[in-house]
Amino acid sequence: MRVLLLGSGGRENALAWKIAQSSILEALFIAPGNAGTKAYGVNVPLQPTDFKGIEDFVLAEKIDMVVVGPEDPLVLGIHDYFLANEALKKVGVIGPQKEAAQLEGSKDYAKKFMARHNIPTAKYATFTKETLTQGYAFLEGMKGPYVLKADGLAAGKGVVILDELAAAKEELKNMLANAKFGAASEKVVIEQFLKGIECSVFVISDGDSYKLLPEAKDYKRIGEGDAGLNTGGMGAISPVPFCDAGFMDRIKNQIIIPTVKGLKADGIPYKGFIFFGIINVKGEPFVIEYNCRMGDPETEVVMPRLRSDLLDLFEGVASQTLSERDVQFDDRCAATVMLVAGGYPEKYEKGKQLFGLNTVNDQMLFHAGTKADGPAVLSNGGRVMAVTSYGKTLPLALDSAYAGVKKIDFEGMYYRKDIGFDVVDR
Ligand code: AMP
Ligand code: GLY
Repeated sequence: MRVLLLGSGGRENALAWKIAQSSILEALFIAPGNAGTKAYGVNVPLQPTDFKGIEDFVLAEKIDMVVVGPEDPLVLGIHDYFLANEALKKVGVIGPQKEAAQLEGSKDYAKKFMARHNIPTAKYATFTKETLTQGYAFLEGMKGPYVLKADGLAAGKGVVILDELAAAKEELKNMLANAKFGAASEKVVIEQFLKGIECSVFVISDGDSYKLLPEAKDYKRIGEGDAGLNTGGMGAISPVPFCDAGFMDRIKNQIIIPTVKGLKADGIPYKGFIFFGIINVKGEPFVIEYNCRMGDPETEVVMPRLRSDLLDLFEGVASQTLSERDVQFDDRCAATVMLVAGGYPEKYEKGKQLFGLNTVNDQMLFHAGTKADGPAVLSNGGRVMAVTSYGKTLPLALDSAYAGVKKIDFEGMYYRKDIGFDVVDR
């Protein structure tokens, strides 16, 4: 199989690492990739949203399957673009069409979907500029903290949680009337605040059936103890200690099956990953959000824990024969620690040389924002490198990941030293 993988983060490096192990892989291309993906295939200088460029490349290189890493191309309709073109139609695309990608691309759409199919989630209401006054009244009728979500994609910044009513009203006005997040906040979802502990659950679906992948927990805040600004993700672990058989059964029966069946009942095709952002409220799972792709950095622990051939699963998705495929997990635990640029997630510098990479032997390095400069590797983003390790237990996986981290250095390098702190005794 000839595969084109779209994206350039740690997620894509982990996917490339896994795809490269497939017995049915003939050639792997990554667009645009990073300094790490080069080890597993050929980097192609194309952006994931450049549909025409991708079309030309797919035809020229006789690509059989396109694997979409990030959400943007999906929300913009890359899968639909392929289906609408006679020559591209037969190419498998891993990632849902535009309609289903709205589960991530529009919070209001996702909420309506969950309401329609009785999927547990926080109570909510949606407002626009025209209904701002009703929005104020809705907030007045609630207790804090107040959760305000820009409807559309806002680069992970669209959720604001405030303790004070006055601040919440001000924020609602900023989002709706002052277009704080541009078109993304033309609608705002106001939600009931749920108190609990979060985890990320993943399935892959062909629209008929689904397969569960290993679950993970990511650490989104920049600071230790989950303090400070939100980031793309500072580290992850898998498995998640509180995701025992009972809790996973609840997720399966109350969330995963109703979602897959609901999509089918609504006539919405879905070929790709579904990422359920789950919160455990006193043992009951609720959906915080859907994503139409894998998580980052969760992929950097989920892929290492997947024993099955990923391309075989993708083939099952493309040909709608996923139910015949087998998914096996690795019994080992996995942990990943993200190395980021000083200043991230605010202002930071790029172009810093990474040292020590060749001395890391017992861990896996999944490059995120890096680029090659001859033999040197330079930082090229806020999140720079994920250091992943296996371990018989989570503490051992974490200890090993941190031993790998210690071997790497670049100017301004920062990482959280407490990944797993809330659920693992180290
Ligand atoms: P999202 O972008 O939807 O994942 O939201 C970002 C973060 O905001 C989530 O990971 C949660 O930590 C938090 N969050 C979102 N919705 C709620 C809610 N209803 N109650 C409590 N926390 C929430
Ligand atoms: N780590 C969370 C995400 O990928 O959205």
